[in-house]
Amino acid sequence: MLTDEERHEIEAEAAQYAYKRAAGPEALKIVQRHRRWVSDQSLKDVAVLLEMTPAELDGVATFYNLIFRKPVGRHVILVCDSVTCWVLGYDSVRDYLSRELGVKPGETTADGRFTLLPMVCLGACDRAPVMMVDDTLYGNLTPQKIDEILAGYRAEETA
Ligand code: FES
Repeated sequence: MLTDEERHEIEAEAAQYAYKRAAGPEALKIVQRHRRWVSDQSLKDVAVLLEMTPAELDGVATFYNLIFRKPVGRHVILVCDSVTCWVLGYDSVRDYLSRELGVKPGETTADGRFTLLPMVCLGACDRAPVMMVDDTLYGNLTPQKIDEILAGYRAEETA
C-alpha cells in the first residue's frame, strides 16, 4: 500500500497533466525514491491512482531502465556498457567491480550495500569508462579510482 506521502506526491504530479496517466514515469520515480525499487503491489497501487491498468504502467516501467522492479542495494552502481566505454575498458571496469564487490552484474552484495548493474550510455562518453553511483557520475575510471570511490561510500555508511 502506498503511504500518504507517496500518494500526495503522486496526486500533485498527476494534477499537472490533462490525463493522470501522463504522470506514470514520475509516479514510479516517486515510489522508487521512497522505497529504492517498485514492487508489483506498488505498481498496482500507482496504476489505480493514475487510472491505468497495471500492465499499461508496467510497460512504462519497462521502458525506463532506471526504474528498478526488483530490490536493490542501498547504493546502485550503473556501469556503462555502451560503445565508447566498451572500447575504453568496460570489461575491465566491470570485472574489477565484480571482484571488489564479490557479485556478478545484476546482483547485490550480501550486506545489501551495493547493486551492480550494466547500463546503456550514461551520456558522458568523453569521460569513458564511466559509472554512476546513485546520482553521482564518475568518469575516467581506473582500479585505483574505483577503490577510492567505493571506500568513500563504505566510510559514509560506517560514519
Ligand atoms: Fe559510456 Fe556514453 S558510452 S557514457
